Amino acid sequence: MCGIVGYTGTQDAAPILLDGLKKLEYRGYDSAGIAVMDHNIISVNKVKGRIVSLSEKTSDGASVPGTTGIGHTRWATHGAPTEENAHPHLSNDGRFAIVHNGIIENYMALREELLGDGYVFQSETDTEVIVHLLEMYYRGNVRDALIRTANRLQGSYALGVICSEEPGSIYAVREKSPLILGLGIDENFFASDVTALVNHTRNVIYLEDGEFAELTCDAIRVFDVTGREIIKTPSRILWDVQAAEKGGYEHFMLKEIMEQPAAVKATIAPRIREGEVVFDELKDGPAVISGVRKIIITACGSAYYAGCAGKYALEKLTRIPVEVVLASELRYSDPLIDKDTLVIVISQSGETADTIAAMRECSERGARTLAVVNVVGSTVANIADYTVYTWAGPEIAVATTKGYTTQVTVLYMLSVYFGRALGLIGEDQEKEMTDTLQQLPRLIQQSIDLNPAIPSLAKKYHDSKALFFIGRNTDYAVALEGALKMKEISYLHAEAYAAGELKHGTIALIEEHQPVIALCCNPSIMEKTLSNIVEVKSRGAEVLALTFRNNQKILSVADDLLFIPDVESLFSAVTEIVPLQLLAYHVAKENGCDIDKPKNLAKSVTVE
Ligand code: AGP
Repeated sequence: MCGIVGYTGTQDAAPILLDGLKKLEYRGYDSAGIAVMDHNIISVNKVKGRIVSLSEKTSDGASVPGTTGIGHTRWATHGAPTEENAHPHLSNDGRFAIVHNGIIENYMALREELLGDGYVFQSETDTEVIVHLLEMYYRGNVRDALIRTANRLQGSYALGVICSEEPGSIYAVREKSPLILGLGIDENFFASDVTALVNHTRNVIYLEDGEFAELTCDAIRVFDVTGREIIKTPSRILWDVQAAEKGGYEHFMLKEIMEQPAAVKATIAPRIREGEVVFDELKDGPAVISGVRKIIITACGSAYYAGCAGKYALEKLTRIPVEVVLASELRYSDPLIDKDTLVIVISQSGETADTIAAMRECSERGARTLAVVNVVGSTVANIADYTVYTWAGPEIAVATTKGYTTQVTVLYMLSVYFGRALGLIGEDQEKEMTDTLQQLPRLIQQSIDLNPAIPSLAKKYHDSKALFFIGRNTDYAVALEGALKMKEISYLHAEAYAAGELKHGTIALIEEHQPVIALCCNPSIMEKTLSNIVEVKSRGAEVLALTFRNNQKILSVADDLLFIPDVESLFSAVTEIVPLQLLAYHVAKENGCDIDKPKNLAKSVTVE
């Protein structure tokens, strides 16, 4: 999810590159860099950290002369977020500088080959092989070298390239990673998305996979993999700058809800091979679980609720007791933790103060810690004994959505992995479960598609005094997260209750027209939840039920319905939460709330 930008023209390149990178910063912000060409000299400036540091380092670009350049803002995948791993990368002969967004899947083999040929690597990135290949294939024609290089690459890449032999030219290549060319007057641009271009031009060309572009200040030429020129028709951007930043969505939250199929796929895909769950990143492999007598999951907020949802699969498939404890409680509770305890720490940001403190407390008591974390190189990731990344990409909206679903997904995969390691799951069973896990991205998409009525349901429920969420078992765990989503962005009073607990007190709150959102997605306890629905209905409640499309019993008693597709209930939380996220989003919208930046909240809670 890195961002790349390129400029050639008559103005100084560096300030323009820095401005473009700031617009792309939502895509990744652990390190950044620019390479600017002044006549035949390429100068590279890189920093670990934000664009603001790069601006400081280069005096807002003033210290880097030259009218041609490329820039990059990184969300680390291969190699820690360090200055060495930051882009642009230079060829050994200093002739080429490149920036890259994507992943080169065959980089290990290429790296071996290039090392054998005497090329020296400066970074741990997959990207660096590209710049050495360019040097290797360069025979006086950049375009030919690019084509030969691209032919060797497997994976996804949007590339920006400059060559000191051609001052005034920038090159762009696209394969499965977005890249857009911007047409100016006496200047031309490329960028990962239009956000970085709209301040300069609204005339753009969308590159297609397998296309190469050569840009000078007065011309753009696009060619295919054979070197044949392609005539492209420019498009006009009609979005305003802010909308472009959100990829056309009104809010980052909505964009991130819609990204969930892709985020869950990115989290699952590299970890299921031939019917088996594999975690290459666990240095001790399946031995992580050997001798473990208790699992503690600790986290805050939605990450804690992800733990609540994952506990069911973990306990069922490992038969090891699992406790889910709020990090802010655990740290002061004198917890019963020893070397036979595995502590799973969940955090999107990896910087949550309570979570870090709880984790340290557990380590001091001898437990092993396994972090499920999204931000590469974050504190939680760095201090854990084992780290498993959720590949959700940068999450910008304060209310987490794809962060939560990818966390639950990792817990599902760990459950299967540990169950197999403990000999509690056979090969066939694992195959069946991995088949189900691989279906989750498609099923999440169906959870979005099956609920076009949500905006009108939001109109009906948005001015309720309170909303109650009820469910049992995994449905209860999802109800907790559903209620939190509603609270934090719509400011409605929303509470989740275990449905069986209603008659022990909560049912006193039910009165005429009180909305109750009932989650009924677990067939084994459907009848029980149904009874609870009937109980609240007979006291006047208005029931909005979340269930399967063909669930006639629920359909006949509920007032309104939300649907999920048919899915194995052990793994259903990631499909169930999606309609609730959308409901919270639309209720907040009806109420005119600041959805991406709700009041009193921050994305990363780094204080106690
Ligand atoms: C959820 O929408 C919240 N923004 C919040 O509860 C969050 O999940 C919590 O602060 C934990 O954050 P972390 O995952 O970055 O540790």
